[in-house]
Amino acid sequence: MTTIRLGFPADWAGFRAAARALVAANTPPGQITWLVGDEPDLFADNTPPPANDAPITVPRRFVDLAETTIMANDPERFGLLYGILFRIHQGEAALLHDAADPAVHRALMLAHAVRRDIHKMRAFLRFREVTDDGGTRHVAWFEPAHHILEANAPFFVRRFATMAWSILTPDRAAHWDGTTLRFGPGATRADLPEDDRFAECWRVYYRAIFNPARLKLSAMLSEMPRKYWKNLPEARDIPELIAAAAPRAGAMLAAPPTPPRPARAPPAPVTDPPTTEWEALKRQAGACRLCPLWEHATQTVFGEGSTTARIMLIGEQPGDQEDLAGRPFIGPAGQVLDHALRAAGLDRPALYITNAVKHFKFEPRGKRRIHQKPNEAEIETCKFWLDQERAMIEPALIIALGASAARALFNRAITISRERGKLIPLNGATSALITIHPSYLLRLPDEAAKRREYAAFVRDLRLALPYMA
Ligand code: URA
Repeated sequence: MTTIRLGFPADWAGFRAAARALVAANTPPGQITWLVGDEPDLFADNTPPPANDAPITVPRRFVDLAETTIMANDPERFGLLYGILFRIHQGEAALLHDAADPAVHRALMLAHAVRRDIHKMRAFLRFREVTDDGGTRHVAWFEPAHHILEANAPFFVRRFATMAWSILTPDRAAHWDGTTLRFGPGATRADLPEDDRFAECWRVYYRAIFNPARLKLSAMLSEMPRKYWKNLPEARDIPELIAAAAPRAGAMLAAPPTPPRPARAPPAPVTDPPTTEWEALKRQAGACRLCPLWEHATQTVFGEGSTTARIMLIGEQPGDQEDLAGRPFIGPAGQVLDHALRAAGLDRPALYITNAVKHFKFEPRGKRRIHQKPNEAEIETCKFWLDQERAMIEPALIIALGASAARALFNRAITISRERGKLIPLNGATSALITIHPSYLLRLPDEAAKRREYAAFVRDLRLALPYMA
């Protein structure tokens, strides 16, 4: 017997060199024992592996298949792959085109399982933030079904290039310090730090996108198998969301459309006098008919918060929930905003938060009301109220969240990516800071982008800290 000892479970370079030499020496598959690391060798009468001195041609199709299949968590994979290579070399040139061949079929199935595992790791890996004497690092725990860490780590290097991170798995760990990628021994789940502030973000996000009327349990479980749940903060809410889905969907169907109120009578006159300037303004705005948006909205959503705030935040317009509750930023975007404000060290009650447009603009679609962006004329008209709020609050800093707010502030179209994250002098003692709208984060499809953009949002908001004083 010839024993080949590979360095680690997915040691492609080691397998490749050994397989080439073995094929060149015409060694039959049955004569080879494949071992990994320090696995014990049960055969004492070994012949040494042949030297790799004769060049052989290996079809590209085999390399592509073998590079993936070698990561499979199947102790037979090396023998399986070497067997296929040996047969190709013995003259079965078209072997890989025969998917019904048991060996080829097996290798293809294993490659498929490995690719799926790689995809799931990219989708379901969740970093947690740790700060210690060495600075801030991010640590994730993942239990891959196959030996995919080495192959997948470069993906995370590209995605999180500027972060220092470690990915811990039971067999190996990958560590990136911003410059170098290293692999080390495995770890246990107990080595994972406590939940961080992102965990709550994931939960808020998942609850916001979970549509009970669209729930298809089998499709959901196939996309997000239960075995990944224990590492996903948002999965804590899944049982409750599933349990409540049928009654919620039933209630959605039974409910009348969110009441658009055509041709409403003006609000009943309030007889008691306003006690503050803000209340007086809010009441006036409550009867606003400056543009047609009031007709279908439930009510004017005026700004709220501290009237002595040093910082004023401007959003775009109230959303569905804000329209019903009459308060700005209390729906999904508001929850993201609250998190980011806390992360930046800003205290929401000490701020004044308003919108560029004070009525919800939407398009009815079935029973839902779909947000529509306000147009220039609507922003321009509603600026009347924004200017009143500015004059009353006299903030030292105005933060424009997104393009509509920035347009209201600067009277022109603003490219957020170009202008964000810097302090811009306005008139008098007021400065402006432009950043993204938090609903942009809710729309991002994958975790990497979400994390990156959330961190950039918090960074922008931190520029406001000196104005809190
Ligand atoms: N989006 C906004 O711009 N404002 C709100 O109040 C809510 C969502």
